[in-house]
Amino acid sequence: MAELVGAFAASHGPLIVREWDNVPPEQKTRMTAGFRELGRRLMAAKTDVLIVVSPDHWSNFFLDNYPALCIGVGEVNEGPPEPWMKAFPHREIAGHAGLGRHIAQSALDAGFEPAVSHRLKLDHGICIPLWRMELERLPRVMPILLNSIEPPMPSLERCYQWGTLLRRAIESYREPVRIAILGTGGLSHSIGEKTMGAIYEDFDHETIRHFGGAPERLIDFLNETLAKHGNGSEEVRNWLVAHGAAGGRGFELVDYVPTPKVIVGCGFASWRV
Ligand SMILES: [Fe+2]
Repeated sequence: MAELVGAFAASHGPLIVREWDNVPPEQKTRMTAGFRELGRRLMAAKTDVLIVVSPDHWSNFFLDNYPALCIGVGEVNEGPPEPWMKAFPHREIAGHAGLGRHIAQSALDAGFEPAVSHRLKLDHGICIPLWRMELERLPRVMPILLNSIEPPMPSLERCYQWGTLLRRAIESYREPVRIAILGTGGLSHSIGEKTMGAIYEDFDHETIRHFGGAPERLIDFLNETLAKHGNGSEEVRNWLVAHGAAGGRGFELVDYVPTPKVIVGCGFASWRV
């Protein structure tokens, strides 16, 4: 049987690549260490398949057709389409069709209705963390694209429930594969709106503190505050999926590095599963 061997979360953002040379050394050192530590833990867990939960930044979907959640069920997916991601070393990334189909069916059986795709483009939301984690080998990557950028979005409760569902689906999958989950996005940032560039450090610290407490309180806190702290902060939904998969327990902050040059409150976290 399959086994959940790790749950992780990391920020992403185009400027982590595009402005990297201009990031002050101390922040660059800490961000590098944060990504690397997650990579070290991922490898130490002997991960065969990594489920990456990320928004789609208009690489596969647009306003004419934007699913709340789409499971990548293909044997292979494409590398990042963004021109500034061309140095990312993988143009194709192996998926896991059997696991993808099992998760999709498990979801339908449980009253969730995901979209599915047999071939996705894995944009910077997925590939920046994979790249910066400096993995000695890339596990198979099963993408889940969760709308966390364009209203209307799935509720925070639903994102947590997706995590619970993923845990059950993983543990009922008959193949002996070691599976980890990575949620990417957040923490606070603001893109293309009047507050563009803002990082809300107090909000991020409170969010991090609530990840260490009861899931209901975390969700209540975010329901009250999230919409007021930059549209990019909505991506914390992807952290909630990892949190749900971990049963709402065992959260550990690896580091939090608010980095104005990349306009993101960068967070790195892992869960004991
Ligand atoms: Fe994003």
